[in-house]
Amino acid sequence: MLAALAFSVASSSAALAVQSVALKRPVAISAAAVENEGKTLAIHFNDGLKCRFHSLWLRDACRDDAHVAKYAGERLLTATPVGPSGVIPSRLRASAAEVHDGEELRIHWDEESMCKHELAVDPPTVSMFPAAFLRAYAEVVAERIIEPEQADAAQPSVGDALNDELAWLRPYSAFQNAPAPRPEEMCLWKNDGGLELPVYDHDNVLDVESTANLRMLQDVVRYGAVIIDGCANPGVEGLHNFADKALGGLQKDPTRPKAHWKIVKKDGATSVSYDHLKRLNQHTDSSIPPHGLPALCLLFHYAEGTGTNTLTDGFAAAAQLRAENPLGYALLAKYGYDGERDFVASRADSTQQFNRGLVVSTQVPMLQLDDAGELKRIQYNEVFRMPLSLPYDIFPRWYAAFDRFVELLHSNDFERQIPMSKGRFILMQNWRVLHGRAGGRASANRVLVGGTITREAFYSQARRLTRERRAFADVAQEEELVLRRRAD
Ligand SMILES: [Fe+2]
Repeated sequence: MLAALAFSVASSSAALAVQSVALKRPVAISAAAVENEGKTLAIHFNDGLKCRFHSLWLRDACRDDAHVAKYAGERLLTATPVGPSGVIPSRLRASAAEVHDGEELRIHWDEESMCKHELAVDPPTVSMFPAAFLRAYAEVVAERIIEPEQADAAQPSVGDALNDELAWLRPYSAFQNAPAPRPEEMCLWKNDGGLELPVYDHDNVLDVESTANLRMLQDVVRYGAVIIDGCANPGVEGLHNFADKALGGLQKDPTRPKAHWKIVKKDGATSVSYDHLKRLNQHTDSSIPPHGLPALCLLFHYAEGTGTNTLTDGFAAAAQLRAENPLGYALLAKYGYDGERDFVASRADSTQQFNRGLVVSTQVPMLQLDDAGELKRIQYNEVFRMPLSLPYDIFPRWYAAFDRFVELLHSNDFERQIPMSKGRFILMQNWRVLHGRAGGRASANRVLVGGTITREAFYSQARRLTRERRAFADVAQEEELVLRRRAD
């Protein structure tokens, strides 16, 4: 059965090619001039773009060592223009601009920009900017004077290379208008013997010389789930080791001293999660999130025993519902269902200890759409659903669509069974794939250990791994800008 699940990750189309640095055209500044009595600067770049920046924007945006604590990544309060500072924003004027080798711009600030201040350190009188930083922000914050030349398609710019490397992460950025994944960015699947889930080797993912970690992250959002086999030390320690090194760490629930959960068989359990022989419906984890946003990923593995877990590609099932009943699909996307979870009571059968009560109520749509109306997240767990507060005239149509969608999620057409045994991990995209447990298949000694991974941890890990594979070390500012612009 394991062989049937095998999938050649080496040939995975999700392994996005990291652009060669040799393809990048270096960004340079051709000229810079102070204008408008120091209130603005005109900057000419080597791709032909000439544009105008506010002096105050430049001073406020400066990230050099005089303005930002290098290792802490914090603004120096003695240099920032606002607050108890020696800089007067309304009087800020540039007095001179120097271009060094085309790569760096230095701006000198007029004495009139400064005043007496209570802080011990004088604010800096010079600000330095890399050319690539200014070119990236020019697209967003500057006034255009001369348009850039047409880009040479055969020679992509730095911006194009960043776009290509980071495009797959756009749906998982923190920007409010982050788009849903595009159809070409996902491989949807059913239970038809077609596409198999990628399988990774545990030690290969953790090998810092390998690209497997980054490819695994790309695959989990492309395929919705991946399998990781070969963990030699399954259990709590093995889970944390893998999550910390490959996924940016586990999310900690405020009611639990440890970040992981552990499910051990309990006779007479009141919670279905701990009754290992019962069928557990397909659901997303952190459907009632203790931190506001459901975790992007769920990672779990068998520390002991065997069993069968079930997975459904919720986006594939939702596409079916949309085709069958577009109005019902729209109702599930518009009207939220009521949910509530008592985080301590729902874990009454756990062997773990819980430190305090936490009761969270929600009313979110099961199907959540982006600004363009495309599906970006599914959020649903039947066990925590509360009496619906839908209007009288909406309820019948909403419930019919809800009933059909839940039927699809559990149907033989969409639900897959994944055999699980000691040392096997499943990592899934929890905003898309629903999981559960087949009834009557678990061994008595089955021990499940897992946890959730926040969007922030996943995104940070993906960006760090991408950056490590580039020749230039740290361009976080431009990366964020690329993602934000592409989200617009
Ligand atoms: Fe779950």
